[in-house]
Amino acid sequence: MHDEPNEFLVRAGCFSTEEKHAVYRAIHTRRDVRDQFLSDPLPDDLVRRLLSAAHAAPSVGFMQPWNFLLVRDDERKREIWDAFDRANREATAMFDADKQAAYRALKLEGIRKAPLGICVTCDRDRAGPVVLGRTHNARMDSYSTVCAIQNLWLAARAEGVGLGWVSIFHESELKRILGIPDPIEVVGYLCLGYVDTLYSAPELEVKGWRSRLPLDELIYENSWGDRPSAFNTAAGVIPVEAADQVPPASSD
Ligand SMILES: Cc1cc2nc3c(=O)[nH]c(=O)nc-3n(C[C@H](O)[C@H](O)[C@H](O)COP(=O)(O)O)c2cc1C
Repeated sequence: MHDEPNEFLVRAGCFSTEEKHAVYRAIHTRRDVRDQFLSDPLPDDLVRRLLSAAHAAPSVGFMQPWNFLLVRDDERKREIWDAFDRANREATAMFDADKQAAYRALKLEGIRKAPLGICVTCDRDRAGPVVLGRTHNARMDSYSTVCAIQNLWLAARAEGVGLGWVSIFHESELKRILGIPDPIEVVGYLCLGYVDTLYSAPELEVKGWRSRLPLDELIYENSWGDRPSAFNTAAGVIPVEAADQVPPASSD
């Protein structure tokens, strides 16, 4: 351990305007992709960059509990899709009768279409039984793994790669198919591939399933439910780049 870590401190100014725009552009134009995947394989160096963005994520006690299991084999993908399909039929039945048709109409995965699948897991034992920061909330290691997925998702957006998170599985089935041992938790199964087009708003919103909530209704101050007294709601709105609103050229 270093008693005097100051020698490691580096300058931390804000980004240039262009850099800030790039960061916010990735955040605001990232989408969950289910169907727009192109079949071109993702080159290894690109996959490595995405994984190194994931691996740079924060983690509780710096435990880095993640692993990334790459799935490129078509037969494996088919088994995973079958597992999804079984779970998705169960999921359909969980919704009220009047929502089931709308649910069935949604495409909720790109397992077979995406050239690359990544199963992201969390190893709860990675840093021993007592982990700095996880002492009072055992879920912190899963949250850390989710941070890694979000890093990967944003880096993918910057690289022109679409990513879709599929969670409709029995975890035990996914583990059996991928040979994942019992103590390891599956956090997400991700579908990745190059994309030419992306929805300009969440697909679930475009298809009328659910809309984005007004941010101002979600902000409290000092006490749960209390609205901030002086909060300039117009400030901080990031203009969406015009280039991200252009419809794709028609193919006919
Ligand atoms: C933890 C998590 C699990 C998700 N699981 C699924 C899923 O199983 N199938 C799906 O189509 N989308 C899934 N999504 C994507 C969400 O539906 C999507 O993020 C949301 O509708 C907002 O759209 P956007 O990501 O394009 O902004 C998941 C997202 C998260 C964060």
